[in-house]
Amino acid sequence: MTIFVTGGAGYIGSHVVIELLEQGHNVVVADNFSNSKRGVIERICRLAGREFPFYEMDIRDADGLGRIFSEYRIDSIIHLAGLKAVGESVSKPLEYYANNLESTMVLIDAMKTHNVKKFIFSSSATVYSADNEMPLTEESRTGGCTNPYGWTKFMCEQILCDYANAANGCAVVLLRYFNPIGAHPSGLIGEDPQDIPNNLMPYIAQTAAGRLPFLSVFGDDYDTPDGTCVRDYIHVSDLAAGHVAAIKHLDSNSGVSVFNLGTGKGVSVLEFVAAFEEATGVSIPKKTAGRRSGDLPLQCASTEKAKRELGWEAKRTLYDACVDTWRWQKGID
Ligand code: NAD
Ligand code: UFG
Repeated sequence: MTIFVTGGAGYIGSHVVIELLEQGHNVVVADNFSNSKRGVIERICRLAGREFPFYEMDIRDADGLGRIFSEYRIDSIIHLAGLKAVGESVSKPLEYYANNLESTMVLIDAMKTHNVKKFIFSSSATVYSADNEMPLTEESRTGGCTNPYGWTKFMCEQILCDYANAANGCAVVLLRYFNPIGAHPSGLIGEDPQDIPNNLMPYIAQTAAGRLPFLSVFGDDYDTPDGTCVRDYIHVSDLAAGHVAAIKHLDSNSGVSVFNLGTGKGVSVLEFVAAFEEATGVSIPKKTAGRRSGDLPLQCASTEKAKRELGWEAKRTLYDACVDTWRWQKGID
């Protein structure tokens, strides 16, 4: 059985590929390196102790995809490739719609032509509406996204649902990731944003490394226990293991299944900083700043469905994620 992984050189994709290889799956990986580096592929092989076919290509290249699907007996697809920066999506909406929607549609078309029945999509907690009760279950309301990136995830989910509805015997899993953090425990694979990071963990890690002077805490007057926003942070290796569980699920289910991948535990910005300081022994200079536009006070996953139906739950702690991130950050500085 061979799994085609798109975006496999990226932050989450690289961890997914390692996990699949370690669990004995065969993979074919494609990435255009628009937000990743070539060296990642060699590192994945080194860590997994195995090589695999890799294609440098844009997933929107239908002919290229056709050649891959003709050459290998692809059993399932994990589609991680996409643009993911919320702020950038506001200033470059067309790039986001073109990349994220087209790549998904071209891939579905190849899937149809080559009779591939199983598809896993990297979705996001950002598809949930702002007016839901916490924790968010898979039945919570979606839509009302506040940026084009979120809409691309919402629309791809809809396209996949419509396709699965029309295609006989097709099985689709939509994985809604909460906030992925951390790095591979080897320190060889992790997240290395090209510009000033938007996300909390890389910002803190770069502050700890002295690349940035201080962390701005975006708002301390929310209606949360310490006034700062609460999120559900999940270690990227746990997230990767969730994909292996989803692959198993596809073997015995058809139609569309939706799963949250989170920990079920909310952590505030101040709690996060304290955990990082405790795990690394490095103190993080911080200043309170105004609220960041579009931030919700609280977002947290219900993990019951994933536990029950995938037999999967996050095992690693925030402390583990901080230790692993710091090991990775020190390696790249
Ligand atoms: P990433 O940018 O590190 O990885 C995405 C990879 O896809 C990159 O290697 C990039 O080069 C590649 N890529 C982009 N467009 C491509 C195309 N058209 N053809 C081929 N390759 C292409 O991002 P990530 O954090 O690893 O995210 C992976 C997926 O998970 C994305 O779809 C993202 O939207 C989703 N997701 C991420 C988060 C998060 O916080 N990191 C949260 C929820 C969902
Ligand atoms: N934060 C700060 N200072 C910073 C960066 C972040 O205080 O320098 C705060 C934010 O205000 C927020 C929390 O830290 O309260 C987490 O922010 P992130 O940017 O790390 O994460 P978000 O929850 O805003 O969004 C992330 C991804 C989205 C994804 C979402 C849910 O960026 O793509 O998780 O999966 F959709």
